[in-house]
Amino acid sequence: MDYFDYSNGRLCAEQVDIPTLADQYGTPLYVYSRATLERHWNAFDEALGSHPHLVCYAVKANSNLAVLALLARLGSGFDIVSGGELARVLKAGGDPARIVFSGVGKTVAEMEMALETGIRCFNVESTAELARLNDVAATHGVYAPVSLRVNPDVDAHTHPYISTGLKENKFGIEVNAARDAYRQAADSKHLDVHGIDCHIGSQLTEIAPFVDALDRVLELVDHIESDGIPVSHIDLGGGLGVRYRDEHPPLPEDYVRPLMARLSNCDKEILIEPGRAIAANAGVLVTEVQYLKETAEHNFAIVDAAMNDLLRPALYQAWQDIVPVIPHDGAAKHWDVVGPVCETGDFLGKDRELTLAQGDRLAVRSAGAYGFTMASNYNSRPRPAEILVDGDKAYVVRQRETVDRLFEGESIPDL
Ligand code: LLP
Repeated sequence: MDYFDYSNGRLCAEQVDIPTLADQYGTPLYVYSRATLERHWNAFDEALGSHPHLVCYAVKANSNLAVLALLARLGSGFDIVSGGELARVLKAGGDPARIVFSGVGKTVAEMEMALETGIRCFNVESTAELARLNDVAATHGVYAPVSLRVNPDVDAHTHPYISTGLKENKFGIEVNAARDAYRQAADSKHLDVHGIDCHIGSQLTEIAPFVDALDRVLELVDHIESDGIPVSHIDLGGGLGVRYRDEHPPLPEDYVRPLMARLSNCDKEILIEPGRAIAANAGVLVTEVQYLKETAEHNFAIVDAAMNDLLRPALYQAWQDIVPVIPHDGAAKHWDVVGPVCETGDFLGKDRELTLAQGDRLAVRSAGAYGFTMASNYNSRPRPAEILVDGDKAYVVRQRETVDRLFEGESIPDL
């Protein structure tokens, strides 16, 4: 459920009129809803009930400081994948003791930063990373808390680019090699084994792969504990899908229930790392129709947002709903909604039935996750402004980038 709806024929975010936001702040414009973000985070937290748990929001989905600060105030943990994300969480007031650090390529500098900060746990993805982390911790005379991300080799039935739990993927430690990796971790003087972790992919709409992955993880927990290496938490990763079109992903409580049924006799703390399910439907991207171009083959609605602002349609052929901000009368036609970027792959939606006129505003729905965070400056396009709505108030939480900012840091050598 989200808080974007029409009121008197105008699209609103909570009680804020989106056309007015577009007039005030221009387009393209990301608009987020506080009530939606909080509702989604709370749904996960409540689903885990009284079992010891921590919801670690996956920062990569939407890393705006205002979004992170909202979640930090709810008591959220954070799943980070870079030093940059760590800095953002700290800046937003996140609790270091609730941060887990995932990712296959942590650098020495990132490890040092995380150790200094005192994060909750490193989700280690290879034995080489274990060795490096042990060295870095030793150099600094500290102990690094670790959990090993195991790759359970289950098919998440999702887009191949966002499937991560198959043995051919680069992520995690092969399930068959994990027992040895745990021995290596336990024998490493400057590592403290805390947990076990898996993440099998994103935009999952079925429960079965999550359950299969948990079963493999639990089997492994038995093995490693029988080797004398106890773990105190199990991190189930993120990946719960959202409804973009006609998908029927389970609600957080329906996703958690079968998992907790398997964990009823287990007193270990459960961590989860949802990103998309918290942020996607809490945001829209507002754009304005610049030109309508009707050709023998296609009708193109050329809008002012492009693949650099919202990459998902171009990269994954992802379908996101596109709705008029102020619906009006007229004949509907089928439009390819495309951006100004010089690539054929630059589209936001194809073959969409819409009644359009030049100057109309459209909202791309479900753009709160992997929207702004994947935006770039391709074609030297400044990135959009971001607005956070709270009830009847709207806050600019990121100003529109200026063209000057684009070449800040560049210089012309005196050749
Ligand atoms: N934990 C780990 C270790 C991850 O790699 C990810 C996402 C998450 C948690 C959060 O997954 P979520 O709950 O959001 O599904 N750019 C793609 C999605 C890439 C997801 C990468 N990892 C997209 O726009 O669909």
